[in-house]
Amino acid sequence: PLPIDIYPNRRNSLGVDLAHPPEFEELTEKLAYWRADHPVARPTLMANVEHEKIEVRAPQSGKVVGHQVMASERDVDLALARATAAQPMWDALGGQARADLLIKASDLLEENMPRFMDLCRREAGKTMMDGVLEVREAVDFLRYYACEARMLFGAPQPLPGPTGEQNLLRLHGRGVFATISPWNFPLAIFMGPAAAALAAGNTVVAKPAEQTPLIAALAIDLCHEAGIPKDVLQLLPGDGKVGAALTSDPRVTGVAFTGSTGTAHAINRSLAARPGAIGTLIAETGGMNAMVVDSSALPEQVTRDVVASAFQSAGQRCSALRVLYLQDDVADEMLEMIKGAFKALVIGDPANLETDVGPVIDAEAREKLQDHVQEMIDAGFPVWRRSMPTDCENGHFFSPTIIEIGSILDLDEEQFGPILHVCRYPAGGLGKVLDDINSTGYGLTLGLHSRIDETRRFVEARAKVGNFYVNRNQIGAVVGSQPFGGEGLSGTGPKAGGPHYVTRFATERVTTIDT
Ligand code: SER
Repeated sequence: PLPIDIYPNRRNSLGVDLAHPPEFEELTEKLAYWRADHPVARPTLMANVEHEKIEVRAPQSGKVVGHQVMASERDVDLALARATAAQPMWDALGGQARADLLIKASDLLEENMPRFMDLCRREAGKTMMDGVLEVREAVDFLRYYACEARMLFGAPQPLPGPTGEQNLLRLHGRGVFATISPWNFPLAIFMGPAAAALAAGNTVVAKPAEQTPLIAALAIDLCHEAGIPKDVLQLLPGDGKVGAALTSDPRVTGVAFTGSTGTAHAINRSLAARPGAIGTLIAETGGMNAMVVDSSALPEQVTRDVVASAFQSAGQRCSALRVLYLQDDVADEMLEMIKGAFKALVIGDPANLETDVGPVIDAEAREKLQDHVQEMIDAGFPVWRRSMPTDCENGHFFSPTIIEIGSILDLDEEQFGPILHVCRYPAGGLGKVLDDINSTGYGLTLGLHSRIDETRRFVEARAKVGNFYVNRNQIGAVVGSQPFGGEGLSGTGPKAGGPHYVTRFATERVTTIDT
């Protein structure tokens, strides 16, 4: 069996304590220093052709933060040629040497926390707290997967056999991995899959989200500074055409993708249609995450956890709460308290420490959320919305919203933003609630607030979800403690930050020697 924690010397990053004045002041000074920086993201290796250069703008203000040089078809070809050629050397380097480089990279990322936090705010609209969490998670992924590289990719594992026969099992990289990552965790989910692929002995061509290439470019520069060769880890900024060119090229042996379920299906089709080896797909996709609250739950705790799960990060987390089920004998009281806390949320510029809800990523995201709210109003569902502060007029802000609905079946798809749907269920109706949640086909996170052990066991046995959270919020999975990822329409597994992740990026080879 694989080791289960596993790494006694591994520690998660401590980050910065924003409530500690000296630390906060030092951080504020460093953030101010980086504010005028104007970075440019470009392909690590550039073919000798004309390149399109486009602006990257801040979601909260529309101001230009930097530029990205879009990868051309020739850049994709060059990247894959060099990544393919470099892979045997990287694989042969062994787990220990790869781990040393990943640890060095993690230290550089950690040292550059203020610079990343500044970019997380300006490029992705992240609050200060979310910026700290983002950097910590990326650092933790690098260190966790480095431990895996050391542990699993060192000496071969001897296996039993008859006398005179020697059997040795070794793990190797699969080849070249394309990582295609989202804007909502522009550092953590950009770095995590790339680090795992590298740990396993693959070379990596990383395509960041079009909205957040600057954070990705800084991360790649620091990995190169740590000593990871440029051919081994390459950045390819670009739009969906770059992703499609990567996934349709037979030189790509595996794809690690985080994004929509529809795009994951398209990548799967693209991998299947190529000549040559069958490609591996590791996909982390959407969710229709629910929380169930029964009459034994503690109202203050429920209020705190519902508000964090639904509105932190402006609801732009795969794990975020979308549908809250309240047992009907406590529903009025709970809903009243939740609305009270909802009214106290501070909406605004993520530069302010007190901001709870920043902008959504872009105009398209805001319009989609707005269309959904309008449809629900037209369908007659009760809707509560927060009024928008006047200083939010220039950005892509979306007013946090609560909508009362009949059940999760009233929704067609995930709404990726600060919208909480609430419904009621009768005592004795928990089985039907879980069947409805399961029937969506998504299975990412589920929350339960209940003080009854039997209820917890019942839900645990029946719910088809990857991460089940009891009497707490349902966001912010911690590397090594809550390996994260779903099932069904929510992804292929394995779980990020868990003991089975890196092996999925590897292939196994056995040597049998007859002595
Ligand atoms: N891993 C994140 C969380 O747990 C979601 O993508 O919130």
